[in-house]
Order: sequence, then C-alpha cells, then structure tokens
Amino acid sequence: MEKKRIGVLTGGGDCAGLNSAIKWIVKTALDDRLQKTRKILYEVVGIRDGWKGLVFPEGDEWDPAPRTVTLTEEMVRTWDRYGGTMLGTSRTNPYDLKNNRSQTVLENIDRFRLDFLVAIGGEDTLGVAQKLSLEGMNVVGIPKTIDKDLSGTDYTLGFETAVNVITEEVDRLRTTAGSHRRIFVVETMGRHAGWLALEGGESSGAYIILIPEYNFDIERVNELLTEGRKKGARYEIIVVAEGAKPSGYSEIVKEEGVDSFGHQVLGGIGEFLAKWIAQLAKIETRSITLSHLQRGGVPCAYDRRMGRYFGIAAIDLIVREEFGKMVSYRNGQITAVPLKEAVGKLNLVDVQTQYDTDRYNGRRTFLR
Ligand code: F6P
Repeated sequence: MEKKRIGVLTGGGDCAGLNSAIKWIVKTALDDRLQKTRKILYEVVGIRDGWKGLVFPEGDEWDPAPRTVTLTEEMVRTWDRYGGTMLGTSRTNPYDLKNNRSQTVLENIDRFRLDFLVAIGGEDTLGVAQKLSLEGMNVVGIPKTIDKDLSGTDYTLGFETAVNVITEEVDRLRTTAGSHRRIFVVETMGRHAGWLALEGGESSGAYIILIPEYNFDIERVNELLTEGRKKGARYEIIVVAEGAKPSGYSEIVKEEGVDSFGHQVLGGIGEFLAKWIAQLAKIETRSITLSHLQRGGVPCAYDRRMGRYFGIAAIDLIVREEFGKMVSYRNGQITAVPLKEAVGKLNLVDVQTQYDTDRYNGRRTFLR
C-alpha cells in the first residue's frame, strides 16, 4: 500500500478544542477500515510549537528537544478532554517581513517527507498556510480562535468554551456585586471583534455590552446605568470587549510594539471605563479582566464535538486532494472554503442586525 505522511500543527493563541481536533485527525487518518478503501497508509506527524516547529525542528537553545513526533491512536486516545494544545503553540511567523524564514519551512517540509499539512489556527496561522499553499504545499486548515473572527465559517474552535467561562465568571460576580450594590465592568478578549463580549454578555445577561464594532458614548452608558438604578436594580454588569472604544478615542493598548504578525496587545478598557463610570455615576465600580482564563480550562461538549468534526473533515479534504482549503461550519453543515476566503477579511459583528445601538446590548427583536 502507498505510504503518505501528514503533518499537523497548532499555531497562535491556544484555546479549548484543539486536542479534540488533533485526536480525530489521527484517528481518521489511521482508521484501518477507511485505509482499505483509500488504499493509502497514512502516518501522522505532530509538529510542536506551531510554525516554530518547522523553522527549528530540532529544537532551539530554550527547548532543545525535537519538534516532531509520530502520533499514534493510543497516544491521542484521551486528548479530547484536555484544554490547551498537547502539541504546543507559538506566534512564530515564517513570513515575518523582518526575518523571512519561509524557505526553511519549505525545506523542512521536504526533509521530513510531509506530503500534507494540517494547520489548526486563526487568521495568522492560516494566513501562513495560505501562503505555503500558493508555494505548492498540500495544506488544509482548521479554524480555531476564541475571537470567532475568521471569515468563511460560522464557528471557530474554542469560542463556545470561552463564552462559557465568561458566563460562569459573571454568575460569580453577580452575588458580590449585588451584596455591595456595585457596578462591575468585565473585560473580555476578542481583539477587533465583539463576538466574545456580545455572546458572552448575552449568555450571562449583562446589562450593557460594549463592542469594537460600535463606538460607545460614555454619557449614554451613564444614562442607562441611572435608568437601571431608578428601576430598582441593585447592581449592574457591563461586559466590554478589549477592542471597544468610546467615540473619539482609539483602542487601549496594553503593551507597546507589535508581534511578528503585526498585532498590538490590547487591554485596559475595563479599568479605564470603571474609573470613568465611578466619577460620572457616583456609584462604586470595580473592573475585572478575564484575560487568558477565557482560553483555559477543559473544552465544553460543543468544542469537543466540533473539534472531532473538523478533524475528520480535514482528513476528508486530504483524501479528496482538495488542498488550499479550510474546513468550515456553515448553515449547520460541515463544509470547506478556500483558505483565501477565510483569511481575506475579519468576520465582525454586523451592528445593523446583531446589536442594539440604543441599549448597548444584544437585539430585543429579530424582526427587520
Ligand atoms: O486571538 C486570541 C487572543 O486571545 C485575543 O483575544 C487576544 O487579544 C490575544 O489572543 C492575546 O494574545 P496573547 O496570548 O499573546 O497574550
């Protein structure tokens, strides 16, 4: 039987659901019943630490261990129940303009005899996959990011677990907020997309939700808070996305500089807003940044299941030799789209149809 090698890596920020995808890539590729009809014997090679694993496959001074490992069904059997990524990840960009190492990646793909590559990632990782595909590599992608900002798919791995974290944390805050009659500002991640704040806020029943797609007016926030208190509320929860900003201001940046993909580290709007509200509304206000808690913990049932479906679908693409594509969940179906479509532009909240610009919250009617 013909033998072929599939490389798999996870890149960018980790999240829940990645291990489930890896497990099902391995199980589907090595499935002995399917192998008989395919007449190809696949081997799956895990590449550690994202694209770094193909830049420095032998390891480096910080981690001298080899970055490739053959994955067996027995190894991955229990992986779907664990958070993070068993393969490790990095934000290494082989196409970094200041240090382009894409040739090294292509040489290592050759050296390790990788016939196919499955890249599990967000816009950055899949952007690299798209470029490699243009250079002739047989690559397929799996969408993952808690930000849910990839185009071409209705779901990205990790999102639902992150929404569950937001919901659970807000539930906890409610009791203490109520006891003290305080306002709590909860800052979520999400970069330039408001999905996490919007759906996390809707799931937890937040009073105000602020998203990057719609600049808010602080006076209106104050009005809504006063209105709430007049109606008898003892406390309010405001969920704010890290990329949200008041009209006339720009996003708050936590650290100067950019990473190798050109991204700034956002963060700080929650604290900024809490101070502002305390002064304006004269109500005790506290803030909390949920930060990386949203990426941590065990995957919820949905992410385990979607990881499974996406892993299986990635191998289906390889079997059918449909390269340069990303598996996708669209209108209730598992399907695939060209990588180009997925990374071309960000998927952002459509304010017109998904946001209430008066109440700063999710919509109260679905009528158009
Ligand atoms: O893209 C996922 C994400 O968690 C963003 O929501 C956030 O802005 C960023 O990654 C944080 O990156 P890091 O893990 O490098 O701090």
